[in-house]
Amino acid sequence: MSGEISVDDLDEAAARRELARLATEIKLADAAYYVDDDPHLSDAAYDALRQRNLAIEARFPHLKRKDSPTDQVGVRPASGFGKIEHGVAMLSLDNAFNDEDVADFAGRIRRFLGLSEGETLALTAEPKIDGLSLSLTYENGQLVRAATRGDGRVGEDVTANARTLEDIPGSLQGANWPQRIEVRGEVYMSHADFEALNTREAEKGSKTFANPRNAAAGSLRQLDTTITRSRPLHFYAYAWGEVSEPFAQTQTEAVDKLASWGFQTNALFSSHETIDGLLDAYRAIAEGRAGLGYDIDGVVYKVDRLDWQTRLGQVSRFPRWAIAHKFPAEKAVTRLEAIDIQVGRTGSLTPVARLTPVTVGGVVVSNATLHNEDEIARLDVRVGDHVEIQRAGDVIPQVLRVTDPDRQDRSPPYEMPHICPVCQSAAVRELDDKGEPDVRRRCTGGLTCGAQVVERLKHFVSRKALDIDGLGAKQIELFHDRGIVTAPQHIFQLEARIEAAGHSPLAEWDGFGDASARKLFDAIEAHRSVAFARFLNGLGIRHVGQTTSGLFARSFVRWDDFWAAVQALSGASPETAEQPFVSLDGVGMAAVSSLRAFVQEAHNLEMMQDLLSEVTVLDGEAPASESPVSGKTVVFTGTLEAMTRDEAKARATSLGAKVSGSVSAKTDILVAGPGAGSKLKKAETLGIAVMTEAEWIALISN
Ligand code: IVH
Repeated sequence: MSGEISVDDLDEAAARRELARLATEIKLADAAYYVDDDPHLSDAAYDALRQRNLAIEARFPHLKRKDSPTDQVGVRPASGFGKIEHGVAMLSLDNAFNDEDVADFAGRIRRFLGLSEGETLALTAEPKIDGLSLSLTYENGQLVRAATRGDGRVGEDVTANARTLEDIPGSLQGANWPQRIEVRGEVYMSHADFEALNTREAEKGSKTFANPRNAAAGSLRQLDTTITRSRPLHFYAYAWGEVSEPFAQTQTEAVDKLASWGFQTNALFSSHETIDGLLDAYRAIAEGRAGLGYDIDGVVYKVDRLDWQTRLGQVSRFPRWAIAHKFPAEKAVTRLEAIDIQVGRTGSLTPVARLTPVTVGGVVVSNATLHNEDEIARLDVRVGDHVEIQRAGDVIPQVLRVTDPDRQDRSPPYEMPHICPVCQSAAVRELDDKGEPDVRRRCTGGLTCGAQVVERLKHFVSRKALDIDGLGAKQIELFHDRGIVTAPQHIFQLEARIEAAGHSPLAEWDGFGDASARKLFDAIEAHRSVAFARFLNGLGIRHVGQTTSGLFARSFVRWDDFWAAVQALSGASPETAEQPFVSLDGVGMAAVSSLRAFVQEAHNLEMMQDLLSEVTVLDGEAPASESPVSGKTVVFTGTLEAMTRDEAKARATSLGAKVSGSVSAKTDILVAGPGAGSKLKKAETLGIAVMTEAEWIALISN
């Protein structure tokens, strides 16, 4: 994103902060995209966040976070559907943005496989469909399960819904399919069907969908199958996961087989032996894009030979053998009518651009994010200016630049308010340890700020926290406006507080009725026992989000122990009290300081006492066992025969081992091939386990 320090100029402390911020922003964007089907960042903005994160990690590899977005695919599945564990993880794709990135991709593959110059590397090209991925398990030719991607490892069970799609065969046609196979592809909606659906929804007074992708996701993830059945969804098969036996030697052959078994495959699929051939295919697909009748957002390239795909494997969340060559974002020029301020849960003031509505790539845009005041200053964007905006997925677009900066009658530079527009408390930019101001200006009103209270309550009941059915943002606003719920514990006293405030019973309120009021009270009762991590995340303490909460739940396990340790932070010996927290990998001082600040506020302690008398926090779970080499330090030496050095390192790392270049007392295993010399000697002197390449492979194949 713009308005930020360039990666090259970051010092270590700033880089660490940036990585923390990026991890959070990416996580939020993922949740909005995957869980809520309601993205708030454009694809381009999202890609920019990921690129920046990668660039910082490349410069400071030792600062890479345990919860680095580089290692995550999407987020965990939303509740409501059963969960299905994928036989083979559903990965995401790395991106290429220009021809050079594509050439680099091919170069990396050649080096990894150790291909000689004369050896041909065939790559396939096909459209990247802008829908949602689905994994279909067939046993003996019968569809038995369908799962969304979810977090890549566990998805949602949408079998009943998937069966309603015409493009998804209930039984495979033809013959010679593997006894068991996970067929993967994309569920999408055509432009024409999307328009018709939105017209129908609007006529009914229902909410319309922002774009075909959201419509497809919203239609597939329906608890009521009859709704899915009524929606015109399509499916293109382009990949597979676990298979009981190999069924093809190349991607091309595999896709042909999928077609012969009754799946729709994309007609624009092609195979190429040169980079130029691939890029020609990209340009041809880009040119035909508008006429396709469905959304695509790039072209996917894959290594054609499947034995090579297997050898290439994956790096964090991406296969090494595939990449998505993205289309450039769409742009338009419009006028900036006003800048509004939104106040978030932690009091951050976010400027939002209100625009004269303009159509960008088929979607009407009237808002764009301006991120923060540094970004406004960098763009020097002022009310009344004409601005170029960009949208790539249809989501909140970005302002790129002012197109008429030399106009005579410009308004004065925008000044961010120094008081909160909601509660009138001072809004300040906090200074970090180095005296650098935070990019965000925050309202200092805390819980006296209505906006913060409401946002915190919404967070408390959100999907990542208490996740109470029937108690969403709308209901929280309603109860808050009427003074019934102004603190989390009030949720558990809802019925009594409605009565005490002199309101009529909830069942008589507009939009409720007997059944839904009862359902809401029951749902609240059902959440009196709550998981450690969800509860802690729900408290909305700064720097203690979903990941850190999960980490505390796994390491402290008992809530009571954790809460006692937190309270001790405000006690007499702060350094001793910090130990249980800072000794955990992945927990920084920011989280500790924030926890301390939380318990130093008397009103927070009172709130916690009340809240803990309403709910029972369940103990967390210690982590399960891992691979035989996880946590071990491994050194490779000599000539490896079954794989290249890069491949060997990649396998080891993916199994949780650390790969080092030199032997020391910390080395656990030395894998020595023919020609091993000084490293082998040293290992023998130090008494370190030495194994051959074959022994190593046997160990990790277990
Ligand atoms: S291949 C292991 N092919 O893009 C790689 N993915 O950004 C498997 N997608 O999760 C994916 N069209 O949902 C592949 N022709 C295509 C695709 C495609 C769309 C989606 C898919 C994937 C996402 C990654």
